[in-house]
Amino acid sequence: MKIGRLQIDNPIFLAPMAGVSDYPFRLLCKEYGAGLVYSEFVSADGIFRANDKTLSMIRFSDEERPIGIQIFGDSPEIMAEAARTINKQFRPDLIDINYGCPVPKVTKRGAGSAALRDLNLMDEITLAVVEAVPKIPVTVKMRAGWDQNRIVVPEAGVRLEQCGIKAITLHPRTARQSYGGSADWALIKELKAAVDMPVIGNGDIKSVEDMRRMFDTTGCDAVMIGRAALGNPFIFRELKAAWQNAKLFAPATLKEQVALCIRHLKMQVDYCGAQMGANLMRKHFGWYLKSFPGAPQYRNRLVTATDGNEMLVILDEIADYADQTPQVQIVG
Ligand SMILES: Cc1cc2nc3c(=O)[nH]c(=O)nc-3n(C[C@H](O)[C@H](O)[C@H](O)COP(=O)(O)O)c2cc1C
Repeated sequence: MKIGRLQIDNPIFLAPMAGVSDYPFRLLCKEYGAGLVYSEFVSADGIFRANDKTLSMIRFSDEERPIGIQIFGDSPEIMAEAARTINKQFRPDLIDINYGCPVPKVTKRGAGSAALRDLNLMDEITLAVVEAVPKIPVTVKMRAGWDQNRIVVPEAGVRLEQCGIKAITLHPRTARQSYGGSADWALIKELKAAVDMPVIGNGDIKSVEDMRRMFDTTGCDAVMIGRAALGNPFIFRELKAAWQNAKLFAPATLKEQVALCIRHLKMQVDYCGAQMGANLMRKHFGWYLKSFPGAPQYRNRLVTATDGNEMLVILDEIADYADQTPQVQIVG
């Protein structure tokens, strides 16, 4: 598929996830088959102020390409300047605007999904960003509306296309809904019927069957996977195989899962340094290591371990256990 002039190998994308979609996680998902990866959302204000921490969140490697950098903000001028800076300093394949984040810290300042309450502001921000980076595609990721009484899809999609947006990802829940209920995929179908650009369907895809149903029932051009990839980059090889009509993979075994977790820890430490890398891994352990006998005790030890070396010793113990019980499968 193509977004603007950008050619993408397969239509199964990794979602932007704050605190998760950093370089090591993106690289693992890419290795297992993700067709496009995104950075976690980055504050346009932070980029504008040249905040070191913000700029470090944008760093990526060529191995990850194609990659989208996602930004959020409420000021057209600052969003445009941030897009220009990112394009000049980092040369991503696309820039994505976040109109979906429901977190009050972001929306109370008019950013993220708050733009869904004011489509004129959304137009202004979008136009400013599109004009700032004419050589690369600008895309949008959005929710369906602010609340059930203010669903803005498909109207917002048509307006965004007129502003020059090259693809839209729709997570069809409202901002108010947060993660409650289920995503209303019928809205993805409505959006697809209303616009000419690619539409990326997102929300609640957890399996090959879900992905097939998303493609079949909505007509979307690509799918985006968020929570189902947590502790499970393997999902991309399964989904990609299904999309290629190839033989499906068996679910990952505990042995594979632990080996990947060890690799992830080592990459995280290499990337962020010993202390920060180990700290960032704590949440991943809960996602990687579940549903096998003794899992809660191992997780407990891992999250209270003092450093990466102690974590490695515990993970090696789990690997030994997995060696003795090769039949154990834990992805579910
Ligand atoms: C931990 C976490 C962080 C997220 N951070 C972002 C983000 O930075 N930008 C964004 O557009 N969406 C973010 N999302 C939303 C996801 O990209 C996705 O739209 C949502 O999880 C629904 O897809 P899923 O059902 O496949 O998880 C986040 C979701 C999670 C679980």
